[in-house]
Amino acid sequence: MTTKDALVIFTPSGKRGRFALGTPVLQAARQLGVDLDSVCGGRGICSKCQIQPGFGDFAKFGIHVDDEALSEWNAVEERYKSKRGMIDGRRLGCQAKVMGDVVIDVPPESQVHKQVIRKSATQRDIVMDPATRVYFIEVAEPDMHEPTGDFERVKQALALQWQVDGVEADLSILSRLQPVLRKGEWKITLALHRGNHDAAHRILDIWPGYHEGPILGLAIDLGSTTIAAHLCDLRDGAVLASAGVMNPQIRFGEDLMSRVSYAMMNPGGDREMTEAVRVALNGLVQTIATEANSDPNAIYELVFVCNPVMHHLLLGVDPVELGQAPFALALSGSLSLPARDLDLSAVNRAAQVYVLPCIAGHVGADAAAVALSEEPDKSEDMVLIVDVGTNAEILLGNKTRVLACSSPTGPAFEGAQISSGQRAAPGAIERTEIDPATKEPRFRVIGSDLWSDDPGFAEAIKSSGITGICGSGIIEAVAEMRMAGIVDGSGLIGSAEQVGTPRCRAEGRTHSYLLHDGAAEGGPVILVTQTDIRAIQLAKSALYAGARLLMDTMGVENVDRITLAGAFGAHISPKHAMVLGMIPDAALDKVTSAGNAAGTGARIALCNRAARDAIEATVQQIHKVETAIEPRFQEHFVNANAIPHATDAFPHLEGVASLPNVSFNTAGAGSDGRRRRRG
Ligand code: FES
Repeated sequence: MTTKDALVIFTPSGKRGRFALGTPVLQAARQLGVDLDSVCGGRGICSKCQIQPGFGDFAKFGIHVDDEALSEWNAVEERYKSKRGMIDGRRLGCQAKVMGDVVIDVPPESQVHKQVIRKSATQRDIVMDPATRVYFIEVAEPDMHEPTGDFERVKQALALQWQVDGVEADLSILSRLQPVLRKGEWKITLALHRGNHDAAHRILDIWPGYHEGPILGLAIDLGSTTIAAHLCDLRDGAVLASAGVMNPQIRFGEDLMSRVSYAMMNPGGDREMTEAVRVALNGLVQTIATEANSDPNAIYELVFVCNPVMHHLLLGVDPVELGQAPFALALSGSLSLPARDLDLSAVNRAAQVYVLPCIAGHVGADAAAVALSEEPDKSEDMVLIVDVGTNAEILLGNKTRVLACSSPTGPAFEGAQISSGQRAAPGAIERTEIDPATKEPRFRVIGSDLWSDDPGFAEAIKSSGITGICGSGIIEAVAEMRMAGIVDGSGLIGSAEQVGTPRCRAEGRTHSYLLHDGAAEGGPVILVTQTDIRAIQLAKSALYAGARLLMDTMGVENVDRITLAGAFGAHISPKHAMVLGMIPDAALDKVTSAGNAAGTGARIALCNRAARDAIEATVQQIHKVETAIEPRFQEHFVNANAIPHATDAFPHLEGVASLPNVSFNTAGAGSDGRRRRRG
């Protein structure tokens, strides 16, 4: 080393280089490509550039770091620390200068591309690289002798101070620019949005001086039955709140095809549905912002994932073409547009929307989002991913080939069309067990970890009561009824005499099973009726048939692993799903839950711009299988009506559950199980 320069080693990246004495650490980091954040460009205002210098011997690097390796603590740092606080030992990277060999740690919160660690170990982390970022700039003051516009000088400052070129601004920004510049004394903060590919940077907002307010984004999974959203801080990816509402379009039809029919039969029906969903979205924005104690005006970005019919209705496109072969989409690629074009007035008026691409006429952006989240295209083994919803999205494949289809399961899995069905909320039965000997049930409701026969259960559920049964609850209930011999392989509920319990009650020509009688306390009587079982059979047959069709197309008889996804996919018990025959046979430890994978995909696309390019490329590679016109689908659907299945073997299931060989066949019952529906 000469006396003029020093070795700087950054951790955790390990990047190193020699720098002239007096070089600010931030500058050294930039030159080495070290991920050290800065919003104010080194002016000692933002504190994003905090670093942790290490002193003493570093045998690993073969250097000794003197106490004087960095310049002295300065007034800017002192002012920041006294006003805002800073962990002892930390320095501002823009203020501390290199004075000798030094090892510098960049803590996670100072990294631009920080990783958002997801809770489940099976899911990958998100690297922060949002499309909208804030920049602080100092703008040259106007000079009569060299006349240029204020906006031109803003562009120059961005190019010079941040190497950001090609900046555009709407009139609404330009009209505010002059007072903001003067109020900030030629220092301003901008929120800049960079669209996909080589899109220009667009100024979304401007503030005088240094603005510290949050920049928020919404990831929205717009489903046929429910709309789920995550409100994220685009600076660090933190999920500030998650909320969901029912899709109000349900009043026009419960499933997709009935909504397409509504649009076909009623002039202006598509507009009505578009308006309904947009109103609901504005309401959801307010709800989620209130929940997070945030200002909805700070929401600058929204990412949508949805099935093709929801996609078209959101955009205001009549979905009529999606109701008939060849199921042509108005547009299949991704879409970037201002939120105001979708009447989303609750968010910032400059907010930008990104809609993920659709895969095909029946396989939408929600399936693309599942692919983004679960990455079947990177899997070594053959993975089946089932996103359970009103319309199931199914993906099968590995790194050599991925197939996708959607299957019309209807809303039964979401608790709709079930006599005591309700959405997953406190008070809903979510887990069920039935004693095969006594046929007596026990259950758990959302909001308590106690089983209904545990001491203290009544007290624990006092505030919510027992209100109904949610999607995962009905799946378990029907599967338990099958395992306990209350339901036979064809899906028929036996009579009290056949089953041997008074819980089986006659209802006309069929029977129902009494899960809970709350009448004495003024609560509901919760039954699983024959009609409920039929609805579940229809739903699960559609799901299974879709999966089988993909397996046929792929030429495989088995899959290596199965991922259950969906807003409530995480809550479905793999064993019960298999008893029901929702999914093909597999080793139970190879069946896992991914939670709301479509929602997660939306969140990835919200937080990481490159992920948008990646999924756009991936959807081109995914081969779409159309269930609606495939005769084999109908055949699989009919065979899948039995519980678990009329013909397919379930060898793994046999090892973990015994299904009594009972039959309650009575003439006339069970014949409606072959109806099909797309939804
Ligand atoms: Fe903003 Fe250092 S870069 S305080």
